[in-house]
Amino acid sequence: MNVLLIGSGGRECALAWKISQSPLLTKLYAAPGNPGIAEYAENLDIKVSDFDSIIKAIDQKQIDIVVVGPEIPLIDGLTDKINQHSPKTLVVGPKKDGAQLEGSKDFAKQFMVKYNIPTAKYKTFSKDTYNQAVEFLQTLSSPYVLKADGPAAGKGVIIENDFNIACQELKEMFDGKFGESSSEVVIEEFLSGIELSVFVLTDGQGGYVILPEAKDYKRIGENDSGPNTGGMGSVSPVIFADNVFMQKVEDKIIKPTINGLLSEKIDYRGFIFFGLINVLGEPYVIEYNVRMGDPETQSVMLRIDSDLLELMKYAALGELKGKGIEISSKAAATVVLASGGYPDSYKKGLEISGIENVSGSTVFHAGTKLKDGKLLTDGGRVLTVSSLGKDFSEALEKSLLQIKKISFENAYYRRDIGKDLLKLA
Ligand code: AMP
Ligand code: GLY
Repeated sequence: MNVLLIGSGGRECALAWKISQSPLLTKLYAAPGNPGIAEYAENLDIKVSDFDSIIKAIDQKQIDIVVVGPEIPLIDGLTDKINQHSPKTLVVGPKKDGAQLEGSKDFAKQFMVKYNIPTAKYKTFSKDTYNQAVEFLQTLSSPYVLKADGPAAGKGVIIENDFNIACQELKEMFDGKFGESSSEVVIEEFLSGIELSVFVLTDGQGGYVILPEAKDYKRIGENDSGPNTGGMGSVSPVIFADNVFMQKVEDKIIKPTINGLLSEKIDYRGFIFFGLINVLGEPYVIEYNVRMGDPETQSVMLRIDSDLLELMKYAALGELKGKGIEISSKAAATVVLASGGYPDSYKKGLEISGIENVSGSTVFHAGTKLKDGKLLTDGGRVLTVSSLGKDFSEALEKSLLQIKKISFENAYYRRDIGKDLLKLA
C-alpha cells in the first residue's frame, strides 16, 4: 500500500515508525513530515491545511490510504474532501461530522448527555446570556472550569479558583480572548481525580479495537508544577487502569460512544482519544479528541505488537469487527526534550548533536529541521526519547540515560515522568 501521513510532530514520527514496519507498506509519504519522519518516509512539501495539494499528491503518488495525524484538518473537512475527490482512497480520520467531537465542546457535551456517558455537569453560554452564565457559576463550587467551545490549540480551558476572576475571564472569553472559538463557552463542574488517555481505533460500523492506555504529563516542571505545555512525557500502561477500571471504561464510555455515533449516523473511521479522569474508581470523560495524543502516541506505538497499518486499513474499510490487537506486556516511557524557555519564548535554530549515540531507545522528532546538513531545533518540544522496559521504572531509567546523550543549548526535560503513579502501585 502507498500511505500518505498528514502532520509533522512527534506523534506523526511515532506513527511513521510503526507504519514503516508493516509488511503491507509499499511506500510511505508524509506531508509535510519532519527530519525524523524522513527516516521512514518521503516528505512532501505540503502544509496540512493545503487540501488541494494533498488531493494532487494522492493522485500523483497513487495513495491507497491517508492517515491524518492532527485534528485541525479533520475539523476543517479534509476527509470529506478526499472522499469526494478520490473515493477509492481510504482515510483514517473522521469526516467533519465526527470531528465535531473535538471541534465543539458543546457538541461533545450534548452527545455525552444524550448517550448517558459520564461527564462533568455543564451548561453552554454566549455573550447574550452572560448573566445566566454568572448565575450558573454561582451554583457551582470553586474551582470554576471555563472552556472555549471551539478549537484553541489546547489553550482554551481556564480553571480559576476565585469567583470574581472567573466572571472576568468569562467576559474576556466572550470578548474574543480565543477569537471565534470562545464566542460560546462551556462552564462545567470541576472533577477531582487522576487523568489518563484511552485510545480506540474504530471503523464507522460498530467495530473497534482498544489501544494501550497512557498518561501524559502536561506541566513544564517536575511534580506537575508550572505552566501547561503540549505534554512533557508519557507512560503506558497506567497503573490504576486495571481490568476492573478498563472494563468500566469500555462499558460506560467506549461502547456508548460507538453506539451513539452509529445512532447519529456518523460514519466515524479513525482514532478516538478519550481524555478521562478517574474519580474514586469511576471514569468520566473530560474531553474527546479525534486523533491520537502527543506525546502519548510515542509510548503507545512501542507497545503495539500488531500491524497497525493492517488495523487502520480495516478501520478505513469498515471491517474492523472481529479483529484483535496484540499489546506488549512491557512498559513504555517517553521523555520530551524541550527548548529552554518553553512554553513561553525560546530560541530556535540551535544545533542538535548526539542522537547517533542513543542505543536501545527510540528517538522521535517533534520540532526539528535540517539546514545545510545540520539538524537544528525548530520548536518548543524538539525530540522525544521512548523506551520499553520490563516495568515502568526500567523504561524510564533507559529513556533518562539515553536522553543525556543528546544535546543542544538550554535543552530541558523532566526526570519524574510517571513517578507519581508509583505511589499508587
Ligand atoms: P480539555 O481541553 O477539555 O482537556 O481541558 C484541559 C485540561 O483541563 C484537562 O486535561 C484537565 O486537566 C482540565 N479539566 C478540564 N475539564 C475539567 C473538569 N471538569 N474538572 C477538572 N479538570 C478539568
Ligand atoms: N497529550 C494530549 C493531547 O495530545 O492532546
